[in-house]
Amino acid sequence: MSTSRRPWMITVLAVVSLVAACSGDGGTEGGDAGGYPDQNITFVVPFSAGGPTDTVTRMIADPMAKALGGKIVVQNVEGAGGTVAAGQVAQAEPDGYTVLMHHIGMSTAPALYKDLSYQPLEDFATIGLVTEVPMTVVARKDFAPADLAGLTTYVKANSDKVTLANAGIGAASHLCGLLFQSAAGVKLQEVPYQGTGPALTDLVGGQVDFMCDQTTNTTGQITAGKVKAYAVTTPERVKSLPDVPTTTEAGMPQLQVSVWHGLYAPAGTPPEIVQKLSEALKTALADQAVIDQMAKLGTAPVAAADATPEAHRAHLEEQITTWAKVISDAGVKAS
Ligand code: MLT
Repeated sequence: MSTSRRPWMITVLAVVSLVAACSGDGGTEGGDAGGYPDQNITFVVPFSAGGPTDTVTRMIADPMAKALGGKIVVQNVEGAGGTVAAGQVAQAEPDGYTVLMHHIGMSTAPALYKDLSYQPLEDFATIGLVTEVPMTVVARKDFAPADLAGLTTYVKANSDKVTLANAGIGAASHLCGLLFQSAAGVKLQEVPYQGTGPALTDLVGGQVDFMCDQTTNTTGQITAGKVKAYAVTTPERVKSLPDVPTTTEAGMPQLQVSVWHGLYAPAGTPPEIVQKLSEALKTALADQAVIDQMAKLGTAPVAAADATPEAHRAHLEEQITTWAKVISDAGVKAS
């Protein structure tokens, strides 16, 4: 929870439990063979309520609950760029009732944290990929620079004053911020929040200058003219933001990043339960209402073939290797 206007310290842990009972047909008795699920399933979100990861989780929670014939409770566990929640789920009972929604941060944390309490590939069962969300470079609406080139020149000239918000070390907004600073050749003051939900609120309020954040969080504020949008960090423009240029069009082709999301269970969770969760995920991603909601916010479900434990694990492995190199090349040391 970002409390003060310019929070410099990452508060370690705040647990905000928002129960969104997504009731399925037949209630908790509805579980089929093996009786799973016969109690509420908790989906843990490692960032603040109302932010992009929370938004994606709540999009699929209801249709997954229906497909499973159970109830899903969404719980926000904030802190340390998502590593607190991941550490908690790694220690949870491997019984299928605790599931983590995490993103690219699962693959960057090993390179950014010296003493991580978990190993992404050893301590989790991958369930399936969910979506890959483009990012946007956005600023408070009265910020001077008119475009990305102007932003680069301005931050270089004012690097001691400009504030760059993010959701903590290892968050997608932090990673994108690193890539921006590396591309611009500048080191800026970073303002960490517990999620980009509260960070965007402060950006709209003019308390921080700019940030990188996912379209699932920024589309509404951009189209409402509440924030300035300089670019999207993908090779193609985003349909829901047709007027926002790509970083390549805006002169910073090296700033390419999109935020893949996946579901995880604690290692040791029975494979048949992991399979059931993966099947329910596929059902949710094929749901027209989910497809429409994602499109409105600039993203789309992954292909069904990627919503599988195997495809997810292969992607996680590749991403851990990829980002370890990018982060070390950017001269960032694990802390
Ligand atoms: C959030 O949900 O707040 C974001 O995913 C944070 C981030 O990774 O930038």
